[in-house]
Amino acid sequence: MVKLIELAFRDAHQSLLATRMRTEDMLPIAAKMDQVGFWALETWGGATFDVPIRYLNEDPWDRIKTLKAAMPNTPMQMLERAMSIVAYWNFPDDIVKKFIFYAKKNGVDNFRIFDALNDLRNMKVPIDTVNEVGGHAQGCVSYTISPVHTTDIFVNDLLALEKMGCQSVCVKDMAGMIFPKHAYEIIKGYKDAGGKVPLSLHTHSISGMEGITYQRALDAGVDILDGAISPLSGGTAAPPTESIVQALKGTPHDTGYDIKLLMEIRKYFMDVWKKYRHLHRMEAIRPDPSVTVHQIPGGMLSNLVSQLELQGAGHKYQEVLDEVPHVKEELGHPPLVTPTSQVVGVQAVMNVLFGRYKNIPQETKDYVKGMYGRTPVPIKPEIYEKVLGPKWKDEVIDCRPADMLKPLWDQRRKELSEMGLMKKEEDVITYALYPKVAVKFFKGESPPEFMSPQLPLPIDHEYTKAMVKSFLPELKQVFIYGEEPRASGPAAIPTEFKVEVDGEPFEVKVEPVGGYMTATGACAPGAAPKGDVEGAVRSQMQGTILKVKKCVGDKVAVGDVIATIEAMKMEQEIKSEKAGEVKQLFVKEGQAVKPGDALMQVL
Ligand code: CO
Repeated sequence: MVKLIELAFRDAHQSLLATRMRTEDMLPIAAKMDQVGFWALETWGGATFDVPIRYLNEDPWDRIKTLKAAMPNTPMQMLERAMSIVAYWNFPDDIVKKFIFYAKKNGVDNFRIFDALNDLRNMKVPIDTVNEVGGHAQGCVSYTISPVHTTDIFVNDLLALEKMGCQSVCVKDMAGMIFPKHAYEIIKGYKDAGGKVPLSLHTHSISGMEGITYQRALDAGVDILDGAISPLSGGTAAPPTESIVQALKGTPHDTGYDIKLLMEIRKYFMDVWKKYRHLHRMEAIRPDPSVTVHQIPGGMLSNLVSQLELQGAGHKYQEVLDEVPHVKEELGHPPLVTPTSQVVGVQAVMNVLFGRYKNIPQETKDYVKGMYGRTPVPIKPEIYEKVLGPKWKDEVIDCRPADMLKPLWDQRRKELSEMGLMKKEEDVITYALYPKVAVKFFKGESPPEFMSPQLPLPIDHEYTKAMVKSFLPELKQVFIYGEEPRASGPAAIPTEFKVEVDGEPFEVKVEPVGGYMTATGACAPGAAPKGDVEGAVRSQMQGTILKVKKCVGDKVAVGDVIATIEAMKMEQEIKSEKAGEVKQLFVKEGQAVKPGDALMQVL
């Protein structure tokens, strides 16, 4: 008998609906979901922490508490990114421990823990903590294809995770590219080597091979498979739950689940699917076997497209695609999953736009230093030198990254209570994970992007039109019959864009130039320049200025960092190509800039 993990409440809507499903859409069906007998219901983790506070005006802690009360009989599962928890960088031990303590307290039973680099040192604190608080720790290996990721490597990691105290293990194929043969070999290898705890396989349908993969996994003795109820299945999401149940009926792997009950659940989710129609995209629901050739996860591909378009370089897509495997190899063959997919993807974009390793984001530097963990293959000295400079040996660490981090809980708690925003201890974690977004949310300054009664959005809404275009790409424009022509002019130009990275949102703001603060000191910017400026130092990227490092009167040498910018969700340095003195400043911190915008005048 095989058991299933149902992903409808987390991975499925993160894959297909930009993680926008609301708790109110989950509760009416919760009791039925609880009756099926799933091995676990995944409800939390990944983007389901970030999105609710950004776009839904929902407290993620309330969601798990409410869902646990509504589904008391089935273990509730979350996906946990080891020391990155549900964010993109590593946190100190105290934050990780507090997070797991409060997650368990509010209703999470099973913690599916993975590390992007399969650095098991990053997984020890989460695994130990889950065991301490009486939860179920499931240790994952992040699946990837590379010359070094052999069957033995995965089998050894699975056995090591079992030894570390995991009560189950998982082959996590987050990009949906595992070949049936490899799935068979890894699972069989683990079982033959004496692996004792239940083994689960997580995959996505995008390659179109998932049915054959599941059969081979079953042949090898897999204990648990992942599925998503059919309206939220297929494509970038997981294989359909009901189909798996039916396919295995009367076989030794029969799940024993009630198909009538599942059909009632299916009917319910058909309506949920319709409610979010503005988020449907053809590319997300249609299989794309090209992933089995280029081995770049779908989420990462769409990010590359949107990042290139933002930088005005959409035509360089193929060059970037060709560059990704080189960067992946040079950075030691990391599995491409958040956050390593972002590091590799952005570096590949930078290499194509500005020359190989000419422009290096802070995140690439941190990664190469070892701040994300140990790379699967050691990085070569010449890459160390290119990224970190001639003194790279002083910077590289080989300890567990979190050993470099100071405890943070007390400080964050103090900050939040001094702001008068702390209502419960869990709020400290929300704030520690996403400081800016959390404060906005606590202050009530994050209204939901749409109220529930507004959904589904009208057919003439821009978002719905984008959906129609995705299904009928040959249309130059989507006109709705009877629609009034929209006014053109500045007011019609959007200034805020929402861009998804690995299914997780971030905001891009484009501000009109000019009209900023009047200059009152050396570091206050003047008006945006008109026409050509002699000695202008320009931004090469679209992004937001984080820090202005030189003020009027400062001396600047060639190569000096004059500002830092957040572009493509990463921190990058802007270096001066000119030497002289800063005569004028045109930007301030927090300002959005485009490629080619003048930042300051150096003469
Ligand atoms: Co997944």
